Amino acid sequence: MSCPRIAAAQCLAAIVGDGQSLSRQLTINETKLPENQRSLYRELCYGTLRQYWRLDAALKPCFSRPLKKRDLDIKMLVYVGAYQLFHTRVPHHAAINSCVEGARKLNKKWAAGMINAILRRCQREGDELFEGLSPAAASSHPQWLHQAISRAWPEAADQIFTANNSHPPFCLRVNAQHSDRDAYLDALRAEGIGASHCAFSARGLRLDQAVPVSSLPGFAEGSVSVQDEAAQLCTDLLDLAPGQRVLDACAAPGGKTCAILEAEPALDEVVALDVDGQRLERVEDNLERLGLRASCAVADASTTDWWDGRHFDRILLDAPCSATGVLRRNPDIRLHRRAEDIAELAALQGKMLDALWQCLAPGGRLVYATCSVLPAENTSSVGAFLARHSDARHIEIKAPWGLNVEFGRQILPQTDGADGFFYAVLSKDAA
Ligand SMILES: C[S@@+](CC[C@H](N)C(=O)[O-])C[C@H]1O[C@@H](n2cnc3c(N)ncnc32)[C@H](O)[C@@H]1O
Repeated sequence: MSCPRIAAAQCLAAIVGDGQSLSRQLTINETKLPENQRSLYRELCYGTLRQYWRLDAALKPCFSRPLKKRDLDIKMLVYVGAYQLFHTRVPHHAAINSCVEGARKLNKKWAAGMINAILRRCQREGDELFEGLSPAAASSHPQWLHQAISRAWPEAADQIFTANNSHPPFCLRVNAQHSDRDAYLDALRAEGIGASHCAFSARGLRLDQAVPVSSLPGFAEGSVSVQDEAAQLCTDLLDLAPGQRVLDACAAPGGKTCAILEAEPALDEVVALDVDGQRLERVEDNLERLGLRASCAVADASTTDWWDGRHFDRILLDAPCSATGVLRRNPDIRLHRRAEDIAELAALQGKMLDALWQCLAPGGRLVYATCSVLPAENTSSVGAFLARHSDARHIEIKAPWGLNVEFGRQILPQTDGADGFFYAVLSKDAA
């Protein structure tokens, strides 16, 4: 049987050393732990990754020599220990002793003294350990991303960095076909679960703290779904109406497909595509839980090979992107994403927009969305598209949320608020 610190160190070693994703690795290591230790394990994985670049820069001088790749688990045990000392209320002696003990359990007794010495130094020096870090390291972002965000949002950059390092809120979308938001809020309160209205989504509730979905009233029956407030805003922008044919071009895991079907139950058809067959299965699971129906297909939306020639009245392109607006939910992205990925993603987004435009009916509407805060994937992608298509019009989004940018509206991630998200609305000239 493992312990949460060891499991967290092994999870981090796979992410840092082998480029694994947090979502995959988290589950693999979690199964080795008893139920009552899993939330600490998750907190250590997520929290240490959010603080990774800051801890990495501060701890580097504490190692007298670089460790071998096979001892990355030991290095990560130190990071997990330091994360607990600086960012949690775990008593210091427990944080230090459990990490030292962890080295023994990993059959690396030689490392126990080193871990003890480094963590005691962290305890002794406290915040002094972080003095003199570069602005990027101090904000726990890689240099390229710190620079890209600072350039794009000079006024708001610090707020973005802080939000990226915070715990994300836990939001629900109440299924309008089952109950209204206030009735569900009462049902939550009756179960002792505190929640309040989301500021901008009429169907959104924000829980005071995260709970397992199994404890949400009516979850299995489809009364609610977990979805951030920013993602919930897409249905209003689609301007749905009975009888429309709607395409969700990048649908998995299906949050927005289901939101569309809940928002307008009298649509003619919803087609949900995704290039990843395994992820598309999650769309089908979500549809089943919510009692909804869509035509799901594995397809590459950057081509029209899958298309039967029948136009869509509405298209949602929730495009693959850098996910730089949701770093707090996917903290491994700050290790895996590279500066050069952004141009590649922008090229793919442009290709998808061009292909999907052909599938849109004259007079139809396409909503382009990303969870990125980088203009290259947002207003610039849309601007370049508009320059290529003379039958495309940009419709300005008038909303109480987000910031108006040249071609769309940008929500910046906020501590205690929505994720970072971008929306643009495009309409096609009538024939
Ligand atoms: C941002 S996620 C979509 C989230 C989803 N709309 C939701 O709300 O649950 C982007 C999705 O695009 C898919 N994707 C990436 N490239 C694609 C392509 N060429 N064609 C279709 N889907 C693609 C990915 O597999 C991923 O599931």
